[in-house]
Amino acid sequence: MNTKKEIEEQKEYLNKVKEVNKEKSPKYTILTMGCQLNENDSEKICGMLEKMGYIKTQKQDEADLAIFNTCCVRENAEDKLFGKLGELKKLKEQKGIIIAIGGCMMQEKHIVDKIKTSYPFVDIVFGTHTLHKFPEDLYKSIQEKRKIEDIMDIDGEIYEGLPIKRDSNIKASVTIMNGCNNFCSYCIVPYVRGRERSRSPKEIIKEIRELAKDGYKEITLLGQNVNSYLRVEKEKNIQFEEYEGVNSFATLLIAINKIDGIERIRFVSPHPKDFTDDVIDAIAKCDKVCKLVHLPLQSGNTKVLKEMNRKYTKEQYLNLVEKMKNKIPNLTLSTDIIVGFPGETDEEFEDTLDVVRKVKFEQVYMFIYSRRVGTPGDKMENQVPDDIKHVRFNKLKALVESQIEENNKKYIGTVQKVLVEGESKNNKDLLTGRTDSNKVVIFEGSKDLINQSINLEIVSEHMWYLKGKIKYDRK
Ligand code: SAH
Ligand code: SF4
Ligand code: F3S
Repeated sequence: MNTKKEIEEQKEYLNKVKEVNKEKSPKYTILTMGCQLNENDSEKICGMLEKMGYIKTQKQDEADLAIFNTCCVRENAEDKLFGKLGELKKLKEQKGIIIAIGGCMMQEKHIVDKIKTSYPFVDIVFGTHTLHKFPEDLYKSIQEKRKIEDIMDIDGEIYEGLPIKRDSNIKASVTIMNGCNNFCSYCIVPYVRGRERSRSPKEIIKEIRELAKDGYKEITLLGQNVNSYLRVEKEKNIQFEEYEGVNSFATLLIAINKIDGIERIRFVSPHPKDFTDDVIDAIAKCDKVCKLVHLPLQSGNTKVLKEMNRKYTKEQYLNLVEKMKNKIPNLTLSTDIIVGFPGETDEEFEDTLDVVRKVKFEQVYMFIYSRRVGTPGDKMENQVPDDIKHVRFNKLKALVESQIEENNKKYIGTVQKVLVEGESKNNKDLLTGRTDSNKVVIFEGSKDLINQSINLEIVSEHMWYLKGKIKYDRK
């Protein structure tokens, strides 16, 4: 069956569940773990649920349906899921709520086995390749009152046209590709998300034009390796239709830059090994593409990088940064770093600190290496003891925090263009927005500035946010 037909079939299930819910307004909760791709998938689950008559609630005890969209990139996600399932067991016994678990962790056989034996009250288990079939799974669970396990161990297809209920009406995420072919030796993602495949240029442009029409100002393009967009298709001679000149990641940025109404374009994550010159040039010349680039480093040591299968050296990474800094005015960088990869010595870890000192990242997402079943890293014998991992993590954290403090000072007295996102969470009298470099800025202003870009003078800095003052009237 082709994907269009499958989606049509699911629409029938949507209507069937809606019919079941007629004259009722059942409520659902959804808990999402993991990356922005998972959050985007959750927005699609919410879109399907609302079409089936469900209403979202934050209160677990009033829900008729509880959903988890899981992540398995690090071990702590598992602890969180099993803790939550313990809590839900009571609600299941008291009022018979439906419990559905989906996402990356469900692609791991040992986890699904554990759910079946230790948490048999879970109703629906669905994987990353069967998200679009959620209406059918839910319908069968309700009507046939049986357990549903809907997981496919395949590469997965691209499904277009799923309903979506977005979390924000200012910023929107747009998934441009699924899966990953890189197999970094620590990482579970390629095993749970399947092989890399790109969405068609036309579908992406169409979606972003719609978003612009609906008033969205900022778009984040998502994928595990965004700068290899359409690469697999070209390598394997898989037919795709060029649209508005889009046949690569660089041309995609250029085409989106032309869409009226969109003011900012961000993307996560690119891979340093695929950062070709055309992408650097596109970032430099497209005024809407934010000059904050997330460039995952993982380790600053060439030997560790080789063991990680990252396919670049310390020098290549630093040279790329240099080249980007030269070509892209006002470039800022953020990164991901793993400490305590198997075999990493103190001296090798020093190379990571060295790169951090040299590059001066705007933001660093730091992770302690976590063994993932089925990855080459898990089978390596020279695992680093936990206490050493923690010492290194704290050393890196101290360096990063001192750099952020230093860097924040540079903002004081500057004028920053800020996209206003809403009221500040901690103080409803203040507004909050973000700079091009994704820094949070809090300031006083009237509510009609929400969803506008304005110029703010930065007056003070704090570790995780800046304070601003309105400098000029709107743009
Ligand atoms: N595709 C993206 C992000 C993948 S997951 C990329 O290549 O950058 C997000 C981050 O989680 C990774 O960048 C990595 O820093 C971290 N990560 C992945 N697997 C991990 C593991 N086993 N232990 C600790 N951190 C991990
Ligand atoms: Fe994981 Fe590497 Fe793929 Fe990123 S590029 S998802 S770190 S395997
Ligand atoms: Fe986690 Fe899956 Fe994303 S494993 S990081 S939710 S792709």
